[in-house]
Amino acid sequence: MSATDFASLPQQNVLVKIEDGIAWVSLNRPSKRNAINPGIVFEMVQVLDVLEADDSAKVVVMTGSGDAFSAGMDLKEYFREPDAGSPIARERLNRANSAWQWRRLMHYPKPTIAMVNGWCFGGAFQFLCACDLAVAADDASFGLSEINWGIIPAGIVTKSVAAALQQRKALYYIMTGDTFDGPEAEKIGLVNFSVPRAEMKPKVVALAKKLMEKNPHVLRACKMGYHYARDMTWDMAAEYLTSKLDAAKFRDPEKGAVKGMTQFLDEKSYRPGLGAYRRD
Ligand code: ACO
Repeated sequence: MSATDFASLPQQNVLVKIEDGIAWVSLNRPSKRNAINPGIVFEMVQVLDVLEADDSAKVVVMTGSGDAFSAGMDLKEYFREPDAGSPIARERLNRANSAWQWRRLMHYPKPTIAMVNGWCFGGAFQFLCACDLAVAADDASFGLSEINWGIIPAGIVTKSVAAALQQRKALYYIMTGDTFDGPEAEKIGLVNFSVPRAEMKPKVVALAKKLMEKNPHVLRACKMGYHYARDMTWDMAAEYLTSKLDAAKFRDPEKGAVKGMTQFLDEKSYRPGLGAYRRD
């Protein structure tokens, strides 16, 4: 058994199960509303390593056990206690947290969906925004509550929110700390869909299945292309994306572009405008 085996996962602060290609990853401190403590941080890093290498996990869904998605960073175990301890341990914790919450997650080689099942505050916005797509329950409650206890939304929260929301909305929620519900989160672009709670999981499964019909190698290149090109000049982005397209075609083990073209132009067996080519 290696450190990247599924069986090596502690399954304590983070629960993971894989069903029909979907890896369900749940922050698991329901009695603390899934507030992110060092236990979650270090286990999440391990979970992302394991799922990256596990071929049975095609799409990763991030959610929370119980009624909360996540109440953000744990004020006691992530801030007060480490702040009073060794500076090196403090730095390592920050680094590990940045790793799972956005550095790794944003460029994760597999598609990721956040399923916001309840409370979502502060630091939870980091991994919510780093997931590719997001579905919320209508009665989920979101808030940038940092202002309410005297800090700014730090880590990468403010930058994540600035990328996802319009300026007026972002500043309103940053400066007031007001909560908002799932429909508002959909309206302002923080999640793709807000649905009644009973429809949330089926919606996520349907979305995951749609992604599983696509070429996984190209999906990964699409994500990376999006995130990197966004911060480049237009000329640089054109160069980079053209090279990325060539590299993706060259490295694609299933040679999707050839299949797609053959099935459309020669076999006339599908319409690329209306669905994916046959991957068999
Ligand atoms: N950090 C540490 N402990 C927390 C956190 C947190 N972020 N959130 C909840 N808890 C703990 C509570 O202290 C309580 O512990 P206890 O049972 O030992 O007393 C337990 O979780 C349950 O919390 P309650 O407040 O009793 O639960 P309730 O359902 O009434 O309220 C809510 C839920 C609204 C999420 C509330 O707990 C809350 O406001 N939490 C803080 C949310 C927040 O502001 N997060 C941002 C943190 S800052 C950042 O992330 C950068």
